Amino acid sequence: MKKLLVVYYSQTGQLTRIVDSVLKPLADSGQVQLVFEQLRPRTPYPFPWTALEFTDVFPESLQQRGCPLEPLQFDPDAHYDGIILAYQVWYLSPSIPIAAFLQSPEAARVMRNRPVTTIIGCRNMWLQAHEKVKAAIVGHQGRLAGNIVLQDNAPNLLGVISITAWMLTGRKDPFLKIFPKAGISDDDIVNAARFGPILLNALHNDRWDDVQSELIPRGAVRVVPSYILFEQRISKIFAVWAKFIGRQGGAKAPARKPRLRLFIGYLFTAIFLIAPLATMVTFVLQHLKHDKIRSLVTYFEKNSYNAGLCGHCPPASAVHKPPAGSAGSNHTNPRSIRKSAI
Ligand SMILES: Cc1cc2nc3c(=O)[nH]c(=O)nc-3n(C[C@H](O)[C@H](O)[C@H](O)COP(=O)(O)O)c2cc1C
Repeated sequence: MKKLLVVYYSQTGQLTRIVDSVLKPLADSGQVQLVFEQLRPRTPYPFPWTALEFTDVFPESLQQRGCPLEPLQFDPDAHYDGIILAYQVWYLSPSIPIAAFLQSPEAARVMRNRPVTTIIGCRNMWLQAHEKVKAAIVGHQGRLAGNIVLQDNAPNLLGVISITAWMLTGRKDPFLKIFPKAGISDDDIVNAARFGPILLNALHNDRWDDVQSELIPRGAVRVVPSYILFEQRISKIFAVWAKFIGRQGGAKAPARKPRLRLFIGYLFTAIFLIAPLATMVTFVLQHLKHDKIRSLVTYFEKNSYNAGLCGHCPPASAVHKPPAGSAGSNHTNPRSIRKSAI
């Protein structure tokens, strides 16, 4: 009997459904013992959010300041044949509860030399967040195995209205009856079960190096070239905003409110003006620098990791060099990818 540790957090239950769907074939096989660890922040995050609560988590999300968690239930010293880490993105970063887990001594102990497969459920921007998560996994000397990403299918500008309405009202149904239903489609969630047999096979044979190349043709990741550029630019600007807001105090400090209101204005400008502009710029760049953008798309699809691509990863001191050969085939030669960064 193989043993798989599944660590996840979900606020609305969307990611829980995705995890259950992906793992259904494993659960049904009777060959795998699934050990679920649902992260529980000591102070739960509100849902639905108010606009100020929603933006108040921004600096800590971006700066990867974890929150206190209820004690973890799993035994970090037990042997697991594989680990699943399922996370959602908050402000181009793993959500605060996931960041808290990644910084815990238990994560460091359990991930060492273990294959870690990530499952992401988000709106549509996960590239920068995943750089941070990969840095933490590699920092714990874990092996990057597969990466499965489920995201909203709605066009960016419509989708952002739908998700904002969902987050602020708690209702997923089509906002004003004109915007698309919020969140990841039910079909996509149900069909995510197609990834399960690939994971089951890897567990069974203890062969994780080829998992991502098997997941890619089944549609496990979709990298939108224009978001590579947009996320890179926006995360630099976000870093400035996070410092600016953070100077007024920590999470929930009343003195932050005026700056949070300014940030809300900026967010809408970024989404409605900068994102379409970045899409146009990338459209031109895609033709001028076709090979370079293509190699970045491949880098993200393959679940490779190169510390040089991430400007906001955990401090270098927290990222240890993995022992030779421990990170499977997913490590990219920094030189080759650096050459191809835009
Ligand atoms: C505070 C906050 C910030 C978010 N930022 C992003 C983001 O930067 N990129 C993205 O694709 N989705 C973003 N989302 C959407 C989440 O990734 C996720 O899809 C949604 O919150 C539902 O996840 P759940 O399973 O926790 O309910 C954000 C959600 C929240 C609550």
